[in-house]
Amino acid sequence: MKNIHPIFDRLVSREEKERFLNQKSKAFWLTGLSGSGKSTIGERVERMLFDQGFFVQLIDGDNIRTGICNNLGFSIEDRDENIRRIAEVTKLFLNNGTICINSFVSPTKEIRKNAANIIGANDFFEIYINTPLVECEKRDVKGLYAKARSGKLLGFTGIDSPYEAPENPSLTIHTENKTIEESASKLFAFIIEKIAVK
Ligand code: ADX
Repeated sequence: MKNIHPIFDRLVSREEKERFLNQKSKAFWLTGLSGSGKSTIGERVERMLFDQGFFVQLIDGDNIRTGICNNLGFSIEDRDENIRRIAEVTKLFLNNGTICINSFVSPTKEIRKNAANIIGANDFFEIYINTPLVECEKRDVKGLYAKARSGKLLGFTGIDSPYEAPENPSLTIHTENKTIEESASKLFAFIIEKIAVK
């Protein structure tokens, strides 16, 4: 990195900011198929945490793809770049003391490993929103599965683009036969353990 002189060491430290906010900043990375419930659960838990006095940010695939990643598509390379940028952004948020809930398909083990490496293993929790494909397809909230099945949308995760389930996630949430409240409570209980200053 020629001619670049980072000044990270001169900034108000992450520890000071965490103390200021009375919380520990960590990233909770929700992975799962489109329509699995990542964003719905993430939104609910962001609200629950905020209402309890935590400073938290939901970082969501569909939002991010309208801004910082709006030049990227859904090839594996573009998804990789999408997740790389998000992971770097997440690192900035963590340095700012903010708790992050990330909601991204992040379909391959490699992609999620890269994210964990950028964010740092101590700060990264992989949360598998485990909803079977048939259920996601039944929900089809955005109508994308129907498009993918009819050939109008190519390279759709779970249909003609791979999804590799996490092997050893920090937490798995099975959403089938659960209410949003039940799934959100499970995630909330997991997060609170990791972020509360004891
Ligand atoms: S990722 O694979 O790069 O992690 P990301 O989470 O940002 O994906 O975006 C996924 C969202 O984009 C889906 O929830 C869906 O709304 C939309 N989408 C559009 N095209 C595709 C596609 N080919 N595969 C998966 N999701 C898609």
